[in-house]
Amino acid sequence: MVRGSGVAFSPPFREAVLSLRAQSAKLVARPVGRLQGRVRAPGDKSVSHRALMLGALALGETTVRGLLEGEDVLATAAALRALGAEVTHEREAGPIPGSLWRVRGFGVGGGREPADVLELGNSGTSARLLAGILASHPFTSVLTGDASLRRRPMQRIIEPLTRMGARFEGREGGRLPLAIVGTDEMVPIEYRLPVASAQVKSAILLAGLNTAGETSVIEPEATRDHTERMLRHFGAEVRVAPAEGGGKRITVIGWPELLGRDIVVPGDPSSAAFAVVAAAIRPGSDITVENVGVNPLRAGLYQTLRDMGADIAFEHEREIGGEPVADLRVKGSALKGVEVPAERAPSMIDEYPILAIAAACAKGTTRMLGLAELRAKESDRLASVSAGLSANGVKHEMGAADLVVHGTGAPPAGGGVVATHLDHRIAMSFLVLGLAAREPVAVDDGSPIDTSFPGFAQLMNGLGARIEAA
Ligand code: S3P
Repeated sequence: MVRGSGVAFSPPFREAVLSLRAQSAKLVARPVGRLQGRVRAPGDKSVSHRALMLGALALGETTVRGLLEGEDVLATAAALRALGAEVTHEREAGPIPGSLWRVRGFGVGGGREPADVLELGNSGTSARLLAGILASHPFTSVLTGDASLRRRPMQRIIEPLTRMGARFEGREGGRLPLAIVGTDEMVPIEYRLPVASAQVKSAILLAGLNTAGETSVIEPEATRDHTERMLRHFGAEVRVAPAEGGGKRITVIGWPELLGRDIVVPGDPSSAAFAVVAAAIRPGSDITVENVGVNPLRAGLYQTLRDMGADIAFEHEREIGGEPVADLRVKGSALKGVEVPAERAPSMIDEYPILAIAAACAKGTTRMLGLAELRAKESDRLASVSAGLSANGVKHEMGAADLVVHGTGAPPAGGGVVATHLDHRIAMSFLVLGLAAREPVAVDDGSPIDTSFPGFAQLMNGLGARIEAA
């Protein structure tokens, strides 16, 4: 525990409320025939967090359209307000659904000490990226979150940010609640990422903004580059060059003048994945998911599904807000098992739970390699997926860092109740399995879905799914 702050971090009351919410959130998905129709993917979670954070670090007004209004992004918005940014939203009529968000920033080096603990719910991206900002500003803040976030490793950001000059005090292993004593006298570093993590990379680059000189991150394996793209969009200088010994060196030049910008957030390929796989595994389906971000560093699942024989077309490819976007047209087809190489993991790191569902419905064996990082997500995703597959009669083996799923090409048995462990992607993935299994599949707690995909059940049911309260 953080000492000396006098704050009660995990009041029993909050846990009781969460468990009550969970009790009322059991969902079930029933087997259906083909899926049909057009839907629009919700805003990209990664891009939404970054739009708000860079808006707060910019001077003047930033507008954001298409923002994901999920709990994780709302946690970032609340934290930025606590630091002094003005973050407002209003309904807007127009072609992009949802609200128009406005951020009036405090600028790099600005902002104020938050009056209270920053409560970040389930959101690892909020915690790790905000830590980079907080470390490089001269005040003390305390981060906490739900039981899932309090279990997740933070040492990976504490280590480089400590080298730059910030101080941290957290629970054993650097877990939340975490106090951050920031400084505006950070020293620039060159840091080789020990794990492929866009969150760690982004925390260091964001800290580098309020640091004199050049702060560099060396990435042995490329991870999502939304931070780099958006930093440039706001006016920062970001250099990318090949690194000695392989990989990329990404350098940000300190003390840029970031100016408010207009941002349009593309749809989230990680959320679109659920509808895409559902259509791919239901014969006769024909759906279109509009406005999906297809940044190559996020699109590994789509390549893998095509390797498995899925019929997925990228239509109307275009660029929105500096990100490549397409409408994905998916038709149901017979899938076959494939080997998914470890090198592909960073480009589909959030998509293995839903890929496991596709693999369960495919004919043959699918081997997924290089999955050690899945154990550090909202839940231990390897263990959660394995338990869910077992509960639904899917033959598979789980290793320390791999998963092998044996599909027969026939619908899996289903009939299980899956423990979601506060993990939105486990909940959504197994609900998709329920559409294609012989018996309905239930999840014990659907409430985490709201962290990334509010309206998931309605959207899926609009395509012909049957996802209901159990
Ligand atoms: C994210 C990076 C990934 C991903 C997460 C969002 C981001 O995490 O799993 O959902 O927005 O940078 P890691 O950086 O831990 O791999």
